[in-house]
Amino acid sequence: MPDLNLILEKIEPSPEEKRKVKGLASELIGIINQEAHKQGIPANAILVGSVAKGTRLAGKADVDIFITFPLSCSQDYLKNKGLELGHHCIEKMESDYEERYASHPYVTGFINGYQVDFVPCYAIKIGSELKSAVDRTVLHTEYIKANLKPEQTGEVLLLKRFMQVVGCYGSEFKVGGFPGYLAELLILEYGTFLRVLEAASKEWMPGYMVDLEEHGTASNFHDPLVVVDPVDENRNVAAALTRQKMAEFVVAASQYIENPSPDFFFDKERKINAKLLKEELISRGTENLILKFHSPELPEDALYPQIRKTEHSLVNILKRSGFRVWGSDSVSYHSQVFIILELEVYNLPPFKRHYGPQVWNRVHSRIFQEKYQPHCWVEEDAWVALVRRDHTTAESLLKYVISRDGIRHLRTGRHLKDQLMDGYQLLSLPDFLEDETPDQKVLNWLYHYLHKNEFPGDIY
Ligand code: CTP
Ligand code: MG
Repeated sequence: MPDLNLILEKIEPSPEEKRKVKGLASELIGIINQEAHKQGIPANAILVGSVAKGTRLAGKADVDIFITFPLSCSQDYLKNKGLELGHHCIEKMESDYEERYASHPYVTGFINGYQVDFVPCYAIKIGSELKSAVDRTVLHTEYIKANLKPEQTGEVLLLKRFMQVVGCYGSEFKVGGFPGYLAELLILEYGTFLRVLEAASKEWMPGYMVDLEEHGTASNFHDPLVVVDPVDENRNVAAALTRQKMAEFVVAASQYIENPSPDFFFDKERKINAKLLKEELISRGTENLILKFHSPELPEDALYPQIRKTEHSLVNILKRSGFRVWGSDSVSYHSQVFIILELEVYNLPPFKRHYGPQVWNRVHSRIFQEKYQPHCWVEEDAWVALVRRDHTTAESLLKYVISRDGIRHLRTGRHLKDQLMDGYQLLSLPDFLEDETPDQKVLNWLYHYLHKNEFPGDIY
C-alpha cells in the first residue's frame, strides 16, 4: 500500500504556491470591485472553483473568478458589464486575454502564469433561482466549503489525481469524465479516496444513484451515473460522464484495490519513438489511414462534438460500403484535426452482390432483370445481380466523400465541412510517421490508440 501522505505532498500545491494564487485572486477581485464601485455597477466579484475550495492540484494553474450581479439586472447588462470589468482587470494587469463563448460568455486572462476565467453570473441564493448554468457555481463553492472537512481536502486531491492519471478527469466533451465538483461530492458521500474506489469497484452499475441531500429526484435522470446536485435537485452532476469513462474508472478502481501502487498518481514519462510506433503499426497487419486538416477556431467544447461526429460518419460510410473498420479515434492539437481510421478490410473486388426482389413478385422481377441483365440470376427464390463498385479501396471512397460531389454523404459539424472542403491530407499512417515527424503530443495520442490497456493520463 503506497503511503498516501507522501503522494499527497507531491500532488498538492506548496504553501507558498497557495499563498501566491490566493494573493493574486484577491488582487484581481479588488481591482474589479473597485472599478464596479467607481462606475456604480452593482457587481461583486468572488473567488470560486477549486482555488476557493482548497481542492486545486499542483500544476493546475486555473483560477475561477465569478462576477455576480443581482437578479434584477438584464442578461445584456450582465454580459456587457461583466465582460467589461473582466477586460478592465486584465488590462490593468497588462496581460493577454481570450474571449470565450462556450454556452456562456466569459473572458480568460493569462495573468502571471495563471489562466484566470472571469465569468459574469447572477447572484442566486437557491438552485431554483438559476438563470444560466454557471449561476450554480457560487452555490457549489459555498456547499463544498461548508461541508468538506479540512482532512478531506487531501482525499479530494488523491481522487482527482487518480482520475487524471487513469484518463477520466474532466467533464469537457473531449473527455466525458468526472468534473472536479463530482470528485468532491464523492468524497462527501463515501468519506475517503479509498472508500470511493471500493464503492466504484464493488457497487457501481449503470443507473447507480447518489443523493447527498436526499432530494429524492435521482430517478428522474437516465444517465449512467446519477449524483444529484446538493444545491439543485434538477441537476445531475455526473450528466457528462459517459458509460465508457464510468466503466474505465470502475476497472481502474478495482486494479488499484488489488494492486495499490504510486503509479496510479503519476503519469509515465514516455518518450515515444516514431520509428518504433511505425513498426508496431505495420506488424498489426491492418491498413491505417490518417486524415489531417485545419481546425476551425472554436472553443473545444464546440469543436470536439463535431470532430467525433465526423469520425463516426466516416466509419459508417466505410462500413456501409463493405470495408471493415477495426477502430478509429480523433483529436485536435495545434489547430489541426487528426482522425485515425484503421481497416481490417481495405481492398475490395471490383464487383459486389446486389440483392433484388423474390421471383414471385412478377412486376419487380421484370424491372430488376431489365436493369441488370445479363449479370443477374436466382438464388433460393430471389434475384441477385453483380454490380460494379464505385470504390475498390477505402482511400478512394474517402476521397470521394470529401469532395464537392460526395460531401453530402458525410455528417460533419457545420464548421468542419468548410474546413475539409478547403483542404485536407489523407495519408497512410506509416508514411505520416516517416515523413512528417509528428511531435510528442501526436505520437503520444497514437501510442495510446495502440495501447488501450495503459492509462492515458491527459492525452486529449
Ligand atoms: N462546474 C459544474 N459542472 C461542470 C463543470 C464545472 O458545475 N461540468 C462548476 C463547478 O461548480 C466548478 C466550477 O464550475 O467548481 C469551476 O469549474 P472547473 O474549473 O472545471 O472545476 P474546479 O472545481 O475549479 O476544479 P479544477 O481543479 O479542475 O479547476
Ligand atoms: Mg477550476
